[in-house]
Amino acid sequence: MPDPLAQAREALRLARRVVIFTGAGVSAESGVPTFRGPGGLWKAFRPEDLATPEALARDPRLVWEWYAWRRGLVAACAPNAAHGAIAEWVARRPGVTLITQNVDDLHEQAARVAGAPDGPPALLKLHGALFSDRCSRCARAAPAGPVDATSPATLPRCPACGALLRPGVVWFGEMLPAGVFEAAGAAAAGSDICLVVGTAGTVHPAAGLVHAAREAGARIAVVDPAATAYDDVAEFRFTAPAGEIVPRLLGSP
Ligand code: OAD
Repeated sequence: MPDPLAQAREALRLARRVVIFTGAGVSAESGVPTFRGPGGLWKAFRPEDLATPEALARDPRLVWEWYAWRRGLVAACAPNAAHGAIAEWVARRPGVTLITQNVDDLHEQAARVAGAPDGPPALLKLHGALFSDRCSRCARAAPAGPVDATSPATLPRCPACGALLRPGVVWFGEMLPAGVFEAAGAAAAGSDICLVVGTAGTVHPAAGLVHAAREAGARIAVVDPAATAYDDVAEFRFTAPAGEIVPRLLGSP
């Protein structure tokens, strides 16, 4: 009987151009909550109250309080075996584009551990970065500073124009960061294989990248313990946690 894990491992090894597409599930074993599964953030909170420009306009204190809580939660997490295996694999072979929907910085942290101090060579963050701010008026980027959300008056302000800062993430109804989705689309369409890790595949336009890769002829490998929107197009399907499977796919034999 052919071993699917060995087959997928060989397909990844031989591919010239690879896309690794990650979602919240790759960080789940680090302790970062996912969005839709058991314990998911969108089970306990309403995105329209917290993750839209309208929510910021309506109740900026509440929005900032929630993001400050998430920053604290993620800051206490460390990369897991899946982040580590991806970072080491990407650092030692060309032709890989790492595309993540995650706003945490665990891929970057793992890349530093793997000896790539500036992060993975090609990391495309489709939904922005939790540890960054930008101005809600002039859109100027600012590094994430401490947040005092005790009252609207104490919230962080833009050093350039004085308007309210906001987290540097993509909210519902917003465009993805300029150029990033285009680069991801080009990488997906040009890939020989797309390794999908820990995403339900339900949030567009990001979710469409895997279908675009498949339509352009890429082989699809999916690692996720639960059902995903990609199960019908996956040639290789591993129904197990990322920390268990990804090191076996990408790590040293
Ligand atoms: P979801 O919460 O929708 O899906 C997470 C996926 O990870 C599910 O399919 C889980 O089964 C899987 N999972 C859980 N634990 C896992 C593990 N240990 N190993 C592998 N997989 C595991 O999260 P995303 O698909 O990433 O958008 O969500 C996409 C976007 O929706 C997010 O980027 C965010 C959210 O709204 C924005 O913030 C714009």
